[in-house]
Amino acid sequence: MQESMEKTTAMIEHFAAVNRILEKHNFSAAKLIPILQETQDVYKCLSKEVISYVATSIGVPPAKVYGVATFYAHFSLEPKGKHIIRLCDGTACHVKKSHGILNALRSHLKLADGKSTTEDFAFTVETVSCLGACGLAPVMVIDGEVHGQVQPEQAVALVEEITRNDAAEQQ
Ligand code: FES
Repeated sequence: MQESMEKTTAMIEHFAAVNRILEKHNFSAAKLIPILQETQDVYKCLSKEVISYVATSIGVPPAKVYGVATFYAHFSLEPKGKHIIRLCDGTACHVKKSHGILNALRSHLKLADGKSTTEDFAFTVETVSCLGACGLAPVMVIDGEVHGQVQPEQAVALVEEITRNDAAEQQ
């Protein structure tokens, strides 16, 4: 009994943030995308439970919400790291050896095959198609900041700098 009450309280607390977001948007199905964006900002990803909860709350089939969440690259069903690294692998960047940067980053961050987020959820490394800055190829974006003509060593140095700054902040 006690355990189930604790579970219910934990569930209510877990969904408190999404409730506030739903209320702000008047539980409107027409606001599905901003609802999902804001929800993802809070939970760092859109879990199955959150997708079902949003769907039920706005009166839309969960499959439709799931379809939207998987259609837009911006949404993620898996938790991502604190820092997001997007490496362009469009044609211009590929020709300028973007894969060398990717390999260097993945090796430095010890990412196993098939994994894009580090074990400690510090970094997520993704490849994206053309970022629209081909003149700067190869291009990498870290936490929204664009870095052009990046070399593998530079990319690793940037990650090391972020790691050092994070460690300093925690002290
Ligand atoms: S191909 Fe990388 S920015 Fe266009």
